[in-house]
Amino acid sequence: MQVFRSKNAGACYGVQRALDLALKASEGDGSAFTLGPLIHNPQVVAELDARGVRAVERPDEATHGAIIIRSHGVTPAVRRSCEAQGLPVIDATCPHVSRAQKAAAKLAGECGFVVVVGEAGHPEVEGLVAYAQEAGGSVCVAECGADLPNDLPEHVGVVVQTTQTRDALEDVLAGLKERGVEAEVKDTVCTATRQRQQAAAKLAGEVDAIVVIGGRNSANTTHLAEICAAECPRTHHVESAAELDPAWFADCETVGVTAGASTPDNQIDSVVRALEAM
Ligand code: F3S
Repeated sequence: MQVFRSKNAGACYGVQRALDLALKASEGDGSAFTLGPLIHNPQVVAELDARGVRAVERPDEATHGAIIIRSHGVTPAVRRSCEAQGLPVIDATCPHVSRAQKAAAKLAGECGFVVVVGEAGHPEVEGLVAYAQEAGGSVCVAECGADLPNDLPEHVGVVVQTTQTRDALEDVLAGLKERGVEAEVKDTVCTATRQRQQAAAKLAGEVDAIVVIGGRNSANTTHLAEICAAECPRTHHVESAAELDPAWFADCETVGVTAGASTPDNQIDSVVRALEAM
């Protein structure tokens, strides 16, 4: 069985930056707190915990060391709570997410109503919603055109969760057009996501089976698995090499490997090695 690794796979710039900042923070007195798991990757979170970088739910649970803001970013209120703790705040918000936050606030000021294209409840989306609201805007969250409410104003701003697909944005824009709503769009889809999606779709169309590596709680890995499944019915989403089942690859001559933006290289390497050994 030949194993092909996707050209663009694994930790993106923002995730790698957050990891590097967290590891650097653990070098001092060895303690730092992240607000929620640093990335949606249980194995990496466990490794950080072993180095003294613990995930907490609220800023007031961080009692010493530093507070690390994740690559997804936080709401302005949570940022203020972090600062109120009196500990150093390490901002690992991905610069692309910061750009989306600024765009949400700007659109709120300009249009008064902002449609956030994204997954309701996702921490990045909650941040975008809060930035728009703090700037005085009304907000709705839509993953597709069908999610849009009927009582929209004539003119809205549109901002996108960085890990969403271009198709999701197009679907929401088509929904707005149907309702006669004019949209001012800030396309904040991250190119790292797009590159991974395009490379994964291409590879999935060329192989007998494909393995997508990444946390099941990772939105971008789940999207990647969906994109692969549309091209290749034998798509398997795993978190680690230990989950690989040889039966999945019966009669396969070629298998592809790709990984979400929150998957470090060593996890991809171990899956590739395990597949090569089958
Ligand atoms: Fe940032 Fe894009 Fe990664 S938004 S965290 S570089 S997927």
